[in-house]
Amino acid sequence: MENIYQPFQIDGSGSTSAAEEALKQEAYAEKCREILSAGHSAYQKYFIQNEGCQMNALQTETVAGMVRDMGLIKTQQEDEADVVIYNTCTVRENANQKIYGHLGMLKSIKRSRPHMKIVFFGCMMQEPHVIRTIQERYPFVDVVFGTHNIHRFPELFFTSLTQEGQIIDIWKDTDLIVEGLPTDRKYPFKTGVNIMFGCNNFCSYCIVPYVRGREKSREPQAIIREMETLARDGVSEVMLLGQNVNSYGKTLPFPVSFAQLLKEAEKVDGIRRIRFMTSHPKDLGDDLIEAMASGTKICRHLHLPVQSGSSRILSAMNRHYDKEKYLTLVKKLRSAMPDISLTTDIIVGFPGETEEDFQDTLSVVEEAGYDTAFTFIYSKRTGTPAASYDNQVPQEVIKDRFDRLLSLVQEKGRERSSRFAGTVQEILVEEENREKGLLTGRTSHNLLVHFPGDASLIGQYVSVRLDTCKGFYYYGTRV
Ligand code: SAH
Ligand code: SF4
Ligand code: F3S
Repeated sequence: MENIYQPFQIDGSGSTSAAEEALKQEAYAEKCREILSAGHSAYQKYFIQNEGCQMNALQTETVAGMVRDMGLIKTQQEDEADVVIYNTCTVRENANQKIYGHLGMLKSIKRSRPHMKIVFFGCMMQEPHVIRTIQERYPFVDVVFGTHNIHRFPELFFTSLTQEGQIIDIWKDTDLIVEGLPTDRKYPFKTGVNIMFGCNNFCSYCIVPYVRGREKSREPQAIIREMETLARDGVSEVMLLGQNVNSYGKTLPFPVSFAQLLKEAEKVDGIRRIRFMTSHPKDLGDDLIEAMASGTKICRHLHLPVQSGSSRILSAMNRHYDKEKYLTLVKKLRSAMPDISLTTDIIVGFPGETEEDFQDTLSVVEEAGYDTAFTFIYSKRTGTPAASYDNQVPQEVIKDRFDRLLSLVQEKGRERSSRFAGTVQEILVEEENREKGLLTGRTSHNLLVHFPGDASLIGQYVSVRLDTCKGFYYYGTRV
């Protein structure tokens, strides 16, 4: 099949400015709208699915906004959609396998709906071996793009509507940040805001820097303007997103620190809660602790991935901190904000991890007092330094350690979360619970709370007494 776009063009920072590019894409979106709204158009409904982290989820909402503006209506049923879109993740092998599973399934759906357009984009598409596989084994996929050129979706989709063949457009990296793209938010009252893109840290196990490119920060004015617009639109909680928010602003023409950005963000009228993710322990300075402690809108929750408790493994992971430095940071945070909720990410079975290293991880979980921790089995990612280490840990050893870690994390999490039992907390109500008559919301500490209430409260802040602790969530009563 003919490829009209050259995969792996290096371009990107390229020929046009972000503003010109935005105008050009608006024109393509208009052309798509004309084709899709024509009387005989077979294209009515779209299905979109996100895999991966919150940053992916935000870009999924952007693409959803673009197809919505082209006149398509969202459906939750993939097999009745005329356009099917997947945003992909490749951080661990199982994320990757899941996508191949979807591709297999789509093959049979498309057989009965040949007009269907299938679009795959995001992190996994940045991997050359994946593109080769899609070209060879999944030629029915119509449009493929990566992480750097989301704004070009209208042009790529238009090309697919008007020409034969698979459209593949992958950029290696870009300096371009196109502002003001449309978005279709999951919740009207809370959303993420990207403050930076990419990652420069190259943790030795991690594929993200290869698929997301070099770190670049958005201008603070653009972030604050977006927050103001969101607030006018009814958003009261924002989550500032970046792979390492603590290095925000360092490479801007007029450098700004993340703590300074937070102070500006606090001033936005209508925004009541500010969260952020992810903080890298190596760059977490006293200024951020001060900004958090003195802030009135910054939520009392910090996600601080430790990855391992062993200083030897942390060094092999290229994390630039050791066990002592991490625990000192935790102490500082707790002395500035005694009630803060800490959460973390932990990888089990990094190459060369011994039982002694693993015991260090358990001891950090004992000492740090996490409200909850996300635990992952190490996954070998082609192209990362750790993938070529020859001392991989046997699967049965990893499984045993993983189970031991999980039970400690759950035990400690339950202990820690129970500190709120009987207290009254302010909850932002997010949705109706599956259990009939119950609503679900979150505290500033990011604790989930279910309580009896009416759906009209969704999006509002209410006071709830936390009655029964169930580990990482509570049952409560409105007061
Ligand atoms: N930028 C964030 C994390 C992004 S990826 C940070 O630095 O903390 C989210 C989590 O996935 C990581 O914190 C890590 O725990 C996990 N992860 C990343 N690569 C992995 C791999 N190869 N195997 C298992 N877990 C991995
Ligand atoms: Fe991956 Fe490390 Fe970057 Fe996080 S900081 S995205 S773990 S390389
Ligand atoms: Fe996955 Fe990409 Fe996020 S690999 S975790 S979706 S940055």
